[in-house]
Amino acid sequence: MTDVTQLTVPVQRWIARRRRHDVERHLGPGAGSTPSDVRIRGRRSHDLAAAARLLGLVVAEGQYPLPRPESRRAWLTGPGIQDAWIAERDGELLGHIALSRVGLDAVSAMRWREVTGRATADLAGVSRFFVRSRVRGQGIGTSLLQAAVTEARARGLVPVAEMMSASRDGIRLYEKQGWRLAAMYPCGPRSASLEAYMYVLAAPKTR
Ligand SMILES: CC(C)(COP(=O)(O)OP(=O)(O)OC[C@H]1O[C@@H](n2cnc3c(N)ncnc32)[C@H](O)[C@@H]1OP(=O)(O)O)[C@@H](O)C(=O)NCCC(=O)NCCS
Repeated sequence: MTDVTQLTVPVQRWIARRRRHDVERHLGPGAGSTPSDVRIRGRRSHDLAAAARLLGLVVAEGQYPLPRPESRRAWLTGPGIQDAWIAERDGELLGHIALSRVGLDAVSAMRWREVTGRATADLAGVSRFFVRSRVRGQGIGTSLLQAAVTEARARGLVPVAEMMSASRDGIRLYEKQGWRLAAMYPCGPRSASLEAYMYVLAAPKTR
């Protein structure tokens, strides 16, 4: 497979755009069981304000993300965020997901290497994942997750995700989609009795 990091930046951007287009075409409007008027597409810079507003509503629910981000916009854009998708209907942003590099600090990199037996460069972290509360349970989260997984696999990377034990809905969805809990560790203040869960999605079985 071509090592895209060896290509010039404009060519890398062109490849990323093509892949996003392929993911959108592959999912199409109303992929899976998503309502047919909901569209999943790559996030554009003009989506950021709406995504940050929706994130504000999710933060107010109190379970995700933990710890609360100081700047919602900064949390949505980096560090390490490589790609992001949104779900929208009639111009209203309904959900968001991103792919990011994992192991940005030494401890996290060591954990991921130990848990997966792979270099962190071979992994793609699914993160920044949330759906507007009034449209949950309609398959929008599943479609966003499919978009991120499709892209990770197209890049030859293994999808992984780290989530807090408080994210009950997220954990249920990942497990339904075949993700495997590979490790967990306590995090945050002891009084909060929070754990971080490390999930890995194995490659689909080939016949
Ligand atoms: C986790 C989250 C993103 C899931 O989004 P969602 O749009 O509700 O996800 P889906 O609709 O695809 O799946 C949720 C449930 O609806 C069910 N569902 C999917 N399509 C459906 C449909 N067409 N009709 C009815 N139910 C459906 C799913 O099977 C799933 O069932 P479950 O609750 O028994 O697991 C959302 O709950 C959320 O934003 N939570 C707060 C933030 C968060 O915790 N993020 C995840 C961090 S790890």
